[in-house]
Amino acid sequence: MTAQLIDGNALSRQLRAQVAQRAAALKARGITPGLAVILVGDNPASQVYVRNKVKACADSGLHSVLEKYDAGFSEAELLARVQTLNADPRIHGILVQLPLPAHIDAQKVIEAISPAKDVDGFHIASAGALMTGLPGFKPCTPYGCMKMLESIGYPLRGKHAVVIGRSNIVGKPMALMLLAQDATVTICHSATQNLKAHTLQADVIVAAVGKRKVLTADMVKPGAVVIDVGMNRDEAGKLCGDVDFAGVREVAGWITPVPGGVGPMTITMLLVNTLEAAERAAG
Ligand code: GUN
Repeated sequence: MTAQLIDGNALSRQLRAQVAQRAAALKARGITPGLAVILVGDNPASQVYVRNKVKACADSGLHSVLEKYDAGFSEAELLARVQTLNADPRIHGILVQLPLPAHIDAQKVIEAISPAKDVDGFHIASAGALMTGLPGFKPCTPYGCMKMLESIGYPLRGKHAVVIGRSNIVGKPMALMLLAQDATVTICHSATQNLKAHTLQADVIVAAVGKRKVLTADMVKPGAVVIDVGMNRDEAGKLCGDVDFAGVREVAGWITPVPGGVGPMTITMLLVNTLEAAERAAG
C-alpha cells in the first residue's frame, strides 16, 4: 500500500483563505492585523524564512514590518526594540527569528515579548498555558502538525503517538498537544535506546530531529501516520526531511512530504496566531 499524502500546501491555501477573510473583517473595523519580524545577523536560512513569513502576511492581508539588524546588534538594543513593539498598537504579533547571535540571550529576549503578542508561542507564559490547557499561543510548527492530523480526521484518543525530538520549539509542545487530544505519547531523543522498538508501536510518528533518514521503512507500523518536520539537504543539495520518504511511503497510511508538508503549515499557523492576537486586541 502506498501512503496517502497530507498536502501542506493545499491545507495552507484553505486556512490562509480563512485568515484573509477574518483579516478583512477586522479591517472593516479599522484594525489591520500587524506582525513585526526581527532578524539579527545574516544566517542564510533565517533570511529565507523571514522573507517567506513577510510575503505570507502580505498575501493574506496582514501588515508586517521586517526589522533587520547586523550581527553586532546588542542584546540591550534588541530588548529596547521589543519593548517599543510591545507598546505599538499597530503591532499585534512579535517574532524574533532564531537562532540569535551567541552574544544575545535568546530566552531573555523571548521573555521580553508581551505574552499577548507572542505569536511564536515561545514565551514561558505560552508554554505554561499549553502545559496546563489554558488559552495561549501555540508554537506554529507543532500547531501546524495538529492541523494536518485534524485535516484527515484522525482520531487521536487512545492512539499511541511517538515524537522523535525534544526541542522547546517542536518536540515538547508537540507531545503536549497530542496528549491534550488524549493520545498516549512517547518522546524519543538522542539518548533513546532502540528507537525502532518505540516507533514500531506507534500509530502516529512525528519526526523532528533535523537529520536525514532518522525514520526508515523498517521502523514504521503498516498504516501509521507519519509527520515529517525535518528540513535537511541530501547529498545532491535537495531539500529533504527526517523521514526516508521513498521507503516509508510504501508502509505508512498517511505521510507528509518535504517540501510541501509541515513547512508551509508553520507559516500558516503564524498567520493564524497573528490574526488571533489582533482579534483579541480588538475585543
Ligand atoms: N527558527 C526556526 N524556526 C523558528 C520559528 O518557528 N520561529 C522563530 N522565531 N525562529 C525560528
